[in-house]
Amino acid sequence: MKITYLTVLLSVLLISCNYKSNPVDNFDPALQESATPGLKMEITWDVDIKPVFQKNCIACHSKFSDFEYVKTNFDGIFKRIDSGTMPMSGKLSKTVITKLAAWRDGKFVQSASAPSVDPTPVPTAIPEPVFDAQNVIEQQCTGCHQTGMAGVPNIYGLPVDYLAAEMNHYKEGRRQDGVMFTMNRIVKDFTDEQIQVIAQALNETDKCTATVNVDTHSDDVKRGATLFKLKCASCHAGAGTFAFPWLKGQDRQYLVQTMLSFIADESPRPAQQMKAYLRGLKEQDIRNIAAFLNSQSECKK
Ligand code: HEC
Ligand code: HEC
Ligand code: HEC
Repeated sequence: MKITYLTVLLSVLLISCNYKSNPVDNFDPALQESATPGLKMEITWDVDIKPVFQKNCIACHSKFSDFEYVKTNFDGIFKRIDSGTMPMSGKLSKTVITKLAAWRDGKFVQSASAPSVDPTPVPTAIPEPVFDAQNVIEQQCTGCHQTGMAGVPNIYGLPVDYLAAEMNHYKEGRRQDGVMFTMNRIVKDFTDEQIQVIAQALNETDKCTATVNVDTHSDDVKRGATLFKLKCASCHAGAGTFAFPWLKGQDRQYLVQTMLSFIADESPRPAQQMKAYLRGLKEQDIRNIAAFLNSQSECKK
C-alpha cells in the first residue's frame, strides 16, 4: 500500500514539477495512471539503497555493502537509523528513512525487474577496478581515523613498515582491536600487496587528526615532558623509522589505553618489548606522558 503510494508520488515528482507544490492529499492517482501508462518505479537495493549505506555506514560497518546481510538484519539496522542513533554523525534525512521503509515494505527488491524507464543507458560491462589506495582509505578508514574520536589513533604519516606490520597483525589475529572490534575485520580481505600500498599511501599523507584537549602549560604536561625526554625520546622523538612509531600528537585516550595494556601484560599485540620500557611507571606517569604528547599537536616530529 505504502509502496504504491510512494512509487506513484515519486513518479509524479519526476514527471511534472507542478506537482511538487501540491499537498500530498490532493494527489490524484488516476490522473497519474493515464498520463504515464505502465510507468513503474521500484525502490531497489542496487539503485536506491546500497548508495545510502555506502555513503553513511560502510566506513565502520563493511558488511552493510552486502545485500543479503542487510536484508537479513534489516530490522535492527533500521531501528538504529530511525531512532537517529546511527550514523554517529547525525540522523539521516526523512526522505532517506522513508525510502528505506518503502524498500522494506516492497519486500527488499535487489535489482530493477522491468525494463528500465530511465532514458540514460546503464552500462552493462563495468571494467575491473584497479586498487586505488586513496579511495579505499577515503571510503573505509576516514570514517573513524579522521574524526578525532577519542580512542582512535592517528594513522597518517606513521612509518610504512610499522603500518604494514600492524595491519598484518590485525589480519592474522595477532593484534586484536579491543576498542571498536573493527580493525581485524576490515583488513581481513586485503592482500599483502594491498596492505603495502595502503601503508605507503597513509605514510605519505601528513595529517594531524588528534584533538588537543589538555592545558599545555599544566604541571601534568611539564612532568610528562620530563619523563618522555628521559625514557622515551631516544626511540619515539623522531618522525618514525621502521620500529618506532611517532607519538607526539597521537590521540590521548589511545595512548593511555595502549600503554596501560602494555604494562598490565594485557596488550593484544604480538610485540611485547614496550613493557620493558614502561617498567617502573605508575598510572599517573602514563597519564602525564600522554597529556604531554597530546599537547604536542604537530604530529610526526
Ligand atoms: C564512525 C563509525 C560508524 C558509522 C559511520 C556508523 N556506525 Fe553503526 N556502530 C558504530 C559503533 C562503534 C557501534 C557499536 C557501538 C554501539 O552499538 O553504539 C555501532 C553499532 C551499530 C549497530 C548495532 C550493532 C550491529 O553491528 O548490528 C547498528 C545496527 C549500526 N551501528 C548501524 C549503523 C548504520 C545503519 C549506519 C549508517 C547509516 C552506521 N551504523 C554508521 C560505528 C559506526
Ligand atoms: C570503526 C572504526 C575504524 C575503522 C573504519 C578503521 N579503523 Fe583502524 N583503528 C580503529 C581503532 C579503534 C584502532 C585502535 C585499536 C587498537 O587499540 O588496537 C585502530 C587502529 C589502527 C591501526 C594501528 C595504529 C597504531 O598506531 O598502531 C592501523 C594501522 C589502522 N587502524 C588502519 C586502518 C585502515 C587502513 C583502515 C581502513 C582500511 C581502518 N584502520 C579503518 C578504528 C577503525
Ligand atoms: C628502545 C626503544 C623504545 C623506547 C625507549 C620506548 N619505546 Fe615505545 N615503542 C617502541 C617500539 C619498537 C614500538 C612498536 C612496536 C610495539 O608496539 O611494540 C613502540 C610502541 C609504542 C606505543 C604504541 C604506539 C602506537 O601507535 O600504537 C606507545 C604508546 C609507546 N611505544 C610508548 C612509549 C613510551 C611512553 C615510552 C617511554 C616511557 C616508550 N614507548 C619507550 C620502542 C621504544
